[in-house]
Amino acid sequence: METDSDIKTTAKGFYCTLCNVNLPNMPSLDQHVKGRKHKTLTTVRTSRKTQEEHSVFVGGIKPDISQSDLAEYFQQFGPVTDVIMDKDKGVYAIVQFSETESLQAALSCVEHQMRGLKLRVKPREKKEFKLISKKKNDSQNLQQVLDRLKPELCQLASVDAQMQYVVEKFQLGENEKKARGLLVQLLQEVFIEFFPDSQILPFGSSVNTFGIHSCDLDLFLDLENTKVFQARAKSTTEQAVEGMSDDGRSEDSILSDIDLSTASQAEILDLVAIILRRCVPSVHKVHVVSSARLPVVKFHHKELNLQGDITINNRLAVRNTRFLQLCSGVEDRLRPLVYTIRYWAKQKQLAGNPSGAGPLLNNYALTLLIIFFLQNCEPAVLPTVDQLKEMACEEEHCVLEGWNCTFPSQPIAVPPSKNTQDLCTLLAGFFTFYAKFDFASSVISVREGRAVPITDFLSKNKEEAALQEEQPTMISPHGPKLGPLNLLDPFELSHNVAGNLNERSQRSFQRECQEGEKYCRSLQYQHKSTKGKSWGLVRLFTPNGDVPHTKTEHLTITIPFKSALLPEGLCNQLQMVGDSFRLLWFQKVSSAVEEVLKSVLRCQLFPSTDTVFGRDSAVDAAEEMETTSASLNTSTNDSCDSVECKSEASPLGTAVVGAKRPLSSGSDDSVSPQGKKPRLARRGRLEFPHWLCVQKHIVWAGRRKVRRELIKDADSSPEGSCVELESQVTAHITEKEPELKEPLEFRVQPQMVGGTESTRAVLKMEPVSDKAGAFQDFFHFLEAFLPKMVETLLKKDSL
Ligand code: UTP
Repeated sequence: METDSDIKTTAKGFYCTLCNVNLPNMPSLDQHVKGRKHKTLTTVRTSRKTQEEHSVFVGGIKPDISQSDLAEYFQQFGPVTDVIMDKDKGVYAIVQFSETESLQAALSCVEHQMRGLKLRVKPREKKEFKLISKKKNDSQNLQQVLDRLKPELCQLASVDAQMQYVVEKFQLGENEKKARGLLVQLLQEVFIEFFPDSQILPFGSSVNTFGIHSCDLDLFLDLENTKVFQARAKSTTEQAVEGMSDDGRSEDSILSDIDLSTASQAEILDLVAIILRRCVPSVHKVHVVSSARLPVVKFHHKELNLQGDITINNRLAVRNTRFLQLCSGVEDRLRPLVYTIRYWAKQKQLAGNPSGAGPLLNNYALTLLIIFFLQNCEPAVLPTVDQLKEMACEEEHCVLEGWNCTFPSQPIAVPPSKNTQDLCTLLAGFFTFYAKFDFASSVISVREGRAVPITDFLSKNKEEAALQEEQPTMISPHGPKLGPLNLLDPFELSHNVAGNLNERSQRSFQRECQEGEKYCRSLQYQHKSTKGKSWGLVRLFTPNGDVPHTKTEHLTITIPFKSALLPEGLCNQLQMVGDSFRLLWFQKVSSAVEEVLKSVLRCQLFPSTDTVFGRDSAVDAAEEMETTSASLNTSTNDSCDSVECKSEASPLGTAVVGAKRPLSSGSDDSVSPQGKKPRLARRGRLEFPHWLCVQKHIVWAGRRKVRRELIKDADSSPEGSCVELESQVTAHITEKEPELKEPLEFRVQPQMVGGTESTRAVLKMEPVSDKAGAFQDFFHFLEAFLPKMVETLLKKDSL
């Protein structure tokens, strides 16, 4: 089989050299080889090989020789299917024949003469087909940069000095800034020819004082004045007839083909792309991305090796860039913090979406998170945007697209901060701040410098929707798109700049902040190693950690309390129990988790009451939890189902010490998640049920396909939205697919954490027996699947 040579056995399972992926076990290898990516790459490789075997390399041509000249010449040896020219230099070409005999004939011809030129015809070089993994490349580059940086950083005397060094190393040099400036000037000259009075304005990292070598060049093409110009020219019939405008500029421009006041954004961007392609030297790879939040024309400048983006509807970005410049001017400590945290985030793969789109933080969002943290230091390092507004004078008043964007133009107008903490302390503070931050129930407002309760937005959104229903003609500004991380733009208050993040990327960010916090408490962070070992930022930047992990790893899935998603009946029940709503909600979640594992995914569940994750972790979680002696009233108690406790020991012989009593028994009047009183143990720990689970089938693989087979319109029922359907999918898989050779055993322990404002259920998971190496895959599937299913079950309100 052709694929055999692509699969290598490794210590951790298998590795597909064609697709650059690791596969932990046989079932996933099997899935992979049958999958689309592997099949497509195999086909592409075969067709490339065929092309190679049917084509010749032709050297010695001149730029004036065309594709058809070459096709015509080589036809004498047999049918030519394609001619690929070296467009840039025009010195070689690849000629492809449909038959190998033609290729042999061309190669055996002693001399090739064409238009007085002596052509060199050779067989094509055989290149190994290899998928270049951008991710791998990127991480290799990151590692290389860090390797170069390491010795220099380690020699410095303090973390503060290291942070300043990071700025020096990465910031845009004067020459780079100059080159960018010249390109902007050139573009300005070209665009003004086609769009009179237009202005091209740089924004983003090139000019916001946080730019690094090779960062993008973001540009805003302001056509407002061009529109005025065009309107004026149109109204002056005389000028239109003469074809000349009053200031002598030719009307015979691209403008005569388009009316800017009515043209769509896409039409204008297409024109911009044409101008770039045809009129700006060294610009190539021009394309319009209309699917972006703000459609953009992308281009690459060859000589400067620079990626550029042009938008035409982005006045606010120019203004928020001015805001970042102001913050940087007001507070010297901001730049070292931003450069350090941006680099850390890149190393940890928390920021830097490939080609702009993806679920990671963008640099703008990351910078705002830093500013927000600085606004919340004690005393504050930076003022809030509302405070800045008050410091501005009348001439600085600025409203764009209805948003107040007023702030002082000069840093001198802002009084210096009373905070004197050094960079080392502030960096550690950043990690502590976000390690503990309650993302589930807050919306970060840089404008107000505080975390606004998410409920304010949920009710506002509801009010707006109601108002809109009453008065459909009224255009109401819609609220921000809420998600796992809510970070409001400082000016465009309906825009969540982290709205692209998914649960997973938000969790990774917080988890890395927790790791960062832990590390910053260690001596290796604060003190230079006398033995020349890595210390300070070096260990913080290390991708997968030299950083010592202090505790055993277990994986967690978080299910936040989201009142807006709960059905009315359950909301009423929660309201009735007052402050104890958390316990009741947690009980419902625990029951839902149990149902998903048992009924939907067909795991065998064996309840237990022992401390499965070790005393420390359980106590930690309990300490995090607001200990409450809450008792639920009888009516609520009555409504609670109990968890059935089937067995005292695992049939598989795994050490399950618990399952001592049916959780439904007892007569106390306060309630555990199973409807009974939580036993308050040492240090206020509440004991909740947990399960040993046994999974015999790979129920997580191929679900989408099965779902599609079961219902024709799979889109009408996205994953996790229908309990019956998901149960059927599992049933289908367990019937059709073979069992795992060794069943997967794992433990699940739900815990309730957070205060009244930030209640969430955290499911701690740990493999007990995983001989097939399936746990990681199953866990990743559960990370997304379980919260969705729990949500669906809670909505059904049948628990
Ligand atoms: P980036 O996230 O690309 O930031 O947004 P950056 O500082 O330029 O970083 P790199 O080096 O290119 O990755 C670029 C600019 O786009 C605007 C901001 O002005 C930001 O500085 N922007 C971005 C917004 O206005 N809103 C957003 O949600 C994102």
